[in-house]
Amino acid sequence: MPLHVLDHPLAGHLLAELRDKSTHPERFRLLTESLTTLLVLQATYGIRTRQDMVETPIKPTAVTVLDQPLAVVPVLRAGLGMLQPPLRLFPDVAVGYIGLERHEDTAIARSYYSKLPTLTGRFTLCLDPMLATGGSAAQAISLIKEHGATQIAMVSIVSAPEGVAYLQARHPDVPIVTAALDEGLNSRKYIVPGLGDFGDRLYGTP
Ligand code: PRP
Ligand code: URA
Repeated sequence: MPLHVLDHPLAGHLLAELRDKSTHPERFRLLTESLTTLLVLQATYGIRTRQDMVETPIKPTAVTVLDQPLAVVPVLRAGLGMLQPPLRLFPDVAVGYIGLERHEDTAIARSYYSKLPTLTGRFTLCLDPMLATGGSAAQAISLIKEHGATQIAMVSIVSAPEGVAYLQARHPDVPIVTAALDEGLNSRKYIVPGLGDFGDRLYGTP
């Protein structure tokens, strides 16, 4: 499935400030939401629609409306920073949560929480800002599929080529929408140049 890297001047501008190490958590959270809005628009391009009619004050007119409910699944903890935009944009959204934490030394993600609704028939977005090794995203999408989702998109803010390749190999049916495809990973499996630890920057933790 395709990798879509947002190619828009505004996305680039927002991402530049997000990457800047002097950006403080309050501003970081706002930038995350703005970028996520752009990403979600792209990621939901294929959601099902139908034709309807409404009456404007002037005359009846044909309109296009959503014909498929959406679900969003943020991966805790950093993915929580991406939750508000789809909640505001989509009337029929259901939310599931997956808690994953990478081991500091091995970078292997361990699952510590999961609460997912039935996802059958829902267009489902998995939200996680960092796609590094791809281990967390691959685990999250496996869980999402176990709950019935068949139309899934992975939404990340910064991705590494290693993570994209890993996820595409394990879930070839899942498109990836991201704001940046970076150089790669360092020896600690952090994205280079990346923006550091997203969760720490979002929540002001050391
Ligand atoms: C970060 C990030 C992803 C994961 C990406 O979470 O939010 O979930 O790392 O890395 P991967 O692609 O190599 O799996 P982290 O485990 O640091 O937890 P946090 O969100 O609670 O900070
Ligand atoms: N998680 C992060 O928060 N940042 C990275 O660069 C990799 C994983």
